[in-house]
Amino acid sequence: MSDRTYRIATIPGDGVGIEVTAEAVKVLEAAAGRFDFDVEVHEYDLGGGRYLRTGEVLPESTQAELAEFDAILLGAVGTPDVPPGVIERGLLLKLRFDFDQYINLRPVKLYPGVPSPIAGLAPEQCDMVIIRENTEGLYAGIGGSFKTGTPDEVATQDSMNTRKGVERAIRFAYDQAMVRDNRLTVCHKTNVLTYAGDLWWRAAQEINADYPDVELDYVHVDAACLYLVNDPGRFDVIVTDNLFGDIITDLGAAIQGGLGLAASGNLDPEKRYPSMFEPVHGSAPDIAGNGWANPVAAVLSTALALSHLGETEAAAAVEHAAAAVLPTLATMGGPDMGASTSEIGDRITAAISES
Ligand code: NAD
Ligand code: IPM
Ligand code: MN
Repeated sequence: MSDRTYRIATIPGDGVGIEVTAEAVKVLEAAAGRFDFDVEVHEYDLGGGRYLRTGEVLPESTQAELAEFDAILLGAVGTPDVPPGVIERGLLLKLRFDFDQYINLRPVKLYPGVPSPIAGLAPEQCDMVIIRENTEGLYAGIGGSFKTGTPDEVATQDSMNTRKGVERAIRFAYDQAMVRDNRLTVCHKTNVLTYAGDLWWRAAQEINADYPDVELDYVHVDAACLYLVNDPGRFDVIVTDNLFGDIITDLGAAIQGGLGLAASGNLDPEKRYPSMFEPVHGSAPDIAGNGWANPVAAVLSTALALSHLGETEAAAAVEHAAAAVLPTLATMGGPDMGASTSEIGDRITAAISES
């Protein structure tokens, strides 16, 4: 045993989540061998499949166990046979909220040799991180339904924005900008969401006093969608609320070559709780079971986990090995990829072991 031993929980989940997590674990173990640290991996059977079999979403005792790990690798959860929200809210969002993983860090990076749907986009024009506030906003679950199922039915869903929550997301984003290109863009909808938008923009301007080297910019979320497509190079670090961040990171995934490449980390930067790393994509029921899922998003999420654990050399090697396999693929996911999910994992693993 080395003095660097990490206890890692995996939640493969459902659908392609199971397929890509197997590859992420292979890569993690190869990185441990190559960089002389140890990993103890414990797999947890949670998700729609478990719920259908046992009725359980996240037993309290399981959550207590998960709290003791150094990091969690999650594949994807959700199945068409379970009503929407049961697993997503009861497992995924519950872990994000209860473990106070208040940052959702989502890099959007076009790797060399990957075709972007944006014609002529060069890698140096697409390299940003999106910082998504991860515990508040419309995701807070505040609201209700009245006279449900009648013609007078009412449904409300409130967006919760606390000064503390907004400020800690913005400060984290400024810190990111400081180690990148010193440019921070706040993305919101201040022209319509005047209460929440005012809090976000005022906080960002006030905190700028602590980061005088960072150039602060603002875009409305609708315009952000336009610029992400026609001028992604204008962004270095974007900070935004929970729902806007969810939406624009799928757009970001598209411009970087597809959901099969988009990684994320749900971070508790203070390390009171384990952080959780997962691809941006879901369980992809339309392609599950075929070996057509691209595991690179899960592998790059593992690189984010290694970086969070302080294994920066291993993190860089994993990212490098994953990036190197991409130009060898015919497509970035689906039946014509030219290699199966596990073959891609094997190639990445071999590249790490030989590095
Ligand atoms: P999805 O991300 O699962 O799929 C969207 C599209 O991207 C599909 O066409 C799919 O085939 C493709 N895709 C996804 N991952 C891919 C990969 N690795 N390689 C190649 N192509 C890939 O989104 P959806 O269909 O809206 O959601 C399906 C289920 O997943 C729902 O239950 C949803 O709630 C859940 N979901 C879970 C997570 C998560 O666990 N983090 C994230 C998003 C969605
Ligand atoms: C994501 C997903 C989740 C979200 C869902 C499955 C709850 O879309 O991680 O982007 O909305 O955050
Ligand atoms: Mn999403």
